[in-house]
Amino acid sequence: MSHADEHVGNRRDFLYYATAGAGAVATGAAVWPLVNQMNPSADVKALASIRVDIGDIEVGTQLTVKWRGKPVFIRRRTQDEIDAARAVDLADLIDDRAENDNVAADSDASDANRTLDENGEWLVMMGVCTHLGCVPLGDGAGDFGGWFCPCHGSHYDTAGRIRKGPAPRNLPVPVAAFDGDTEIVLG
Ligand code: FES
Repeated sequence: MSHADEHVGNRRDFLYYATAGAGAVATGAAVWPLVNQMNPSADVKALASIRVDIGDIEVGTQLTVKWRGKPVFIRRRTQDEIDAARAVDLADLIDDRAENDNVAADSDASDANRTLDENGEWLVMMGVCTHLGCVPLGDGAGDFGGWFCPCHGSHYDTAGRIRKGPAPRNLPVPVAAFDGDTEIVLG
């Protein structure tokens, strides 16, 4: 094989993998709304509140649960994630409201107004992009190390605040509270 042939082969491989990767991401992001629509949601909606065992969630990981027919992200943040979120200048935010049902409606979007505990370790948010409702990818995704919605490229930071892309609002924080050290009640 000549150098020229090798070059073509490598280039094809690269294109193939790049295409496959993008396809996988798009599929993953699109699945939830479809599945969601097919569910008979009446029984799910009847579950006004649910209890979630958070005892096994390690630092730096998140659990996604279904509540009222929608995904809810429960993340136990690392100190780096907390520090990054708290270092943000509020003037840089696209949506400067807390978007948190647990605090006053006119509260600002500071990290403390978005998290469930004083230390900022626990972040609970609807896993629904505020653009058109896709489920963002998590675990440090996107340009701001938080969540990324590949549908149209919305980037959320480690506090779930929209930082770049078409989504207009921070990921909403639903009514939530601790019950002891190992349970969170949603709703
Ligand atoms: S639905 Fe998330 S960016 Fe469009």
